[in-house]
Amino acid sequence: MRFRNLDDADVKGKRVLLRVDLNVPMQDGKVADVSRIERNTPTITEIADRGGKVILISHYGRPKGRDPKESLKPVVAAVARILGRPISFAEDCVGEVAEKAVAAMNPGNILCLENTRFHKGEEKNDPEFAAQLARLGDLYVDDAFSVAHRAHASVEALARLLPAYAGRAMQEELEALAKALHAPERPVAAIVGGAKVSTKLDLLGNLITHVDTLIIGGGMANTFLAAQGKSVGKSLCENDLVQTARDIIAKAKSLNREIVLPVDAVVAQKFAAHAASRVVSVDEVGRSDMILDIGPRTIEYVISVLARTKTLVWNGPFGAFEHQPFDIGTIEVAEAAAELTAAGKLVSIAGGGDTMAALNVAGVTDRFTYVSTAGGAFLEWLEGKTLPGVEVLKASPTPAAARR
Ligand code: 3PG
Ligand code: MG
Repeated sequence: MRFRNLDDADVKGKRVLLRVDLNVPMQDGKVADVSRIERNTPTITEIADRGGKVILISHYGRPKGRDPKESLKPVVAAVARILGRPISFAEDCVGEVAEKAVAAMNPGNILCLENTRFHKGEEKNDPEFAAQLARLGDLYVDDAFSVAHRAHASVEALARLLPAYAGRAMQEELEALAKALHAPERPVAAIVGGAKVSTKLDLLGNLITHVDTLIIGGGMANTFLAAQGKSVGKSLCENDLVQTARDIIAKAKSLNREIVLPVDAVVAQKFAAHAASRVVSVDEVGRSDMILDIGPRTIEYVISVLARTKTLVWNGPFGAFEHQPFDIGTIEVAEAAAELTAAGKLVSIAGGGDTMAALNVAGVTDRFTYVSTAGGAFLEWLEGKTLPGVEVLKASPTPAAARR
């Protein structure tokens, strides 16, 4: 699969509509996590330095119409600081205000337009709204993989109206994802964690056909343990999905894939930081116990799997990592994956909101091959779904491919 990227674009003197994802976590009016912004800075800088006029477009939050609380203005201040360059701001993303702001730009300037979701047409993928956006630019560059699962006007319809290219972060993300599932070095292992099987059914179903080993962690592992007839005490467990878990185990068997489940667990009577806890075999979980992390024998086994794995895909933490000491399983496995990666023995790709936070806590993000800042988009991609924002960037097929 090839995508048009910035190498194919002549941006000099052009008005470049650059779709970024400035939907970043805020706390007390300040950006709480700048990861997404940092990923976009190479593209912004490159376009500006090549003499393009950079017009940033993004959504923020989920406003119903115009809402000052969901303005992009405070985010833009953080982008300018990280970039070390001034950014001007237009109070609307279309219409006269936006057109005037764009007309005032010189090559190398950077402008950010107000939240695209202030207009109903954005989420409706309205061609009329997209046309209003398109009037502001000569080219479209998409650097926002994390919103590529939304068929929204600034992601999809707009890309059909202008010559469209992947920005550097988008390009890097698509290359990393291709390495993980489309043409991976085998054996491939996936770690799927998180609380619920119900939110990851499509994910498990798709992964089981792609990977050699599926490692299941987090609260969702409890449902699988229950499927094996084990008692999980007071642990999170979706009893109505026990049969589904059995089906997944059976499918893995028929495809000759290995499913790894916990063999021991850290249990406590309550879910709180530093709650009294003990390690038990998964055959010995008491009636009032809650499983909050994988135990040391499981950690050791998972690490031994990674040692014989060439490609790892990771979504979801092992334990209730937001409270110590229930973050240990995630941290130790992450540490091992990072070491193998640094030694050139493993390609490690991780993503998802919780996963990125957990890997940041573990301090391994820099040593992984690639950590996606995307939540829903990363998940949908792992589920094998088509992402509208990616589809529109595909290079026109070669004549040979077109004939097929
Ligand atoms: C995200 O943060 O997941 C993306 O920016 C998409 O936002 P949304 O889930 O509100 O569409
Ligand atoms: Mg989301």
